[in-house]
Amino acid sequence: MARAVRRGLALCASLAAGGLALAVDGQARIQASSRRELAVPGKRSALLTVCFVSKASPGRHTVDQLTNGCILNVASFKLAAPESDVILIAPAEENAADKIKTMSEKDSSIKISYVGTGPWEVGGQSIPFKNAEGKFYGNGLKLLWYTQTLKKFQGHYDYIFIADGADLYFQRNPFELAVEYPSADLVFFGDRGDSPSRGKQFFDRMMPRCESSKRNEPSLMDAVDKAFMRKVDGRPYSVYANSGLILGKADAMLSLTSQVAEIAAECRFWISDQSFVNLVRYYMMKERGEDKVLMFPDMEKTASLGHYSWYFWTEDGWLANKDTKEKLYVVHQYDRAPQAKMLTELVWNKTAEWIRKHE
Ligand SMILES: *[C@@H]1O[C@H](CO)[C@@H](O)[C@H](O)[C@H]1NC(C)=O
Repeated sequence: MARAVRRGLALCASLAAGGLALAVDGQARIQASSRRELAVPGKRSALLTVCFVSKASPGRHTVDQLTNGCILNVASFKLAAPESDVILIAPAEENAADKIKTMSEKDSSIKISYVGTGPWEVGGQSIPFKNAEGKFYGNGLKLLWYTQTLKKFQGHYDYIFIADGADLYFQRNPFELAVEYPSADLVFFGDRGDSPSRGKQFFDRMMPRCESSKRNEPSLMDAVDKAFMRKVDGRPYSVYANSGLILGKADAMLSLTSQVAEIAAECRFWISDQSFVNLVRYYMMKERGEDKVLMFPDMEKTASLGHYSWYFWTEDGWLANKDTKEKLYVVHQYDRAPQAKMLTELVWNKTAEWIRKHE
């Protein structure tokens, strides 16, 4: 108490006197104190994930798969990060599965954010929920919903983890990375470590579909590729991010998601968001510096398993980093991995007790 008052007085005095030395001292102390507060894992942090069922649901999943996938996502997250909140995004009440609503009623840290069924105004355009054929308008909508929800909860959280809804599970508290890398504003995780060139191929295939030439001119595409270059396991390659999992400070996350939505509007392209996420990641790297916008290649902290199998395990049966033997934070796309059956069983086993208490 006395220390806080003294700190406040020192700050007032420095501001009043306009003394540079004192102001710097005051600022350093404030930064140090907020770092200490943030260094408590899970403090004021939330998982943000889109979780809904609708006739217009995107693509390849059944209603049951979407619901169960979402339950496993939430259950595994709450086991790994019990102090953090979960905000599930759904358009309207009728699009939130009963099991999800029950989970939310039993645990007040699990919230549902209803974002409505549109249309949404962005960049002078009106973006609908469904297209003329009654199909989901596109994954770009998720960025609009993240933005809307982040604004609704502005000031509530220091850190946000954005995750795909139905096809990933947590093994470990992702906010440990925020503690380990306190100066990072955003942390991205790589796509397809088994076939690294796919990241660039996907980017190069999607960006020309943007109707704004400013966003896909060859010099920009080259600059992005250069900026993403990393040496991974001794081989250099450009690491493109998977847009299904992103960690960040809440204000940086809002800046990211709102810029992606604006670019989607400018490009008139809503089907896929991943390329725009990478483009804005590039802009933010340039603007804030590489030490503020981090990137971990696939297989290092997370695994994007859609196309390959995993062979490294911790003693208690979690997927581990092959070199450090540490538990990976997130396992993504387990449901369409070669080992899908075993991995799905594994995550059901790990979360069974939590789920039983929340149904
Ligand atoms: C899940 O639990 C069952 C019953 O305890 C066990 O037989 C099975 O091997 C477990 N599966 C995995 C993948 O851990």
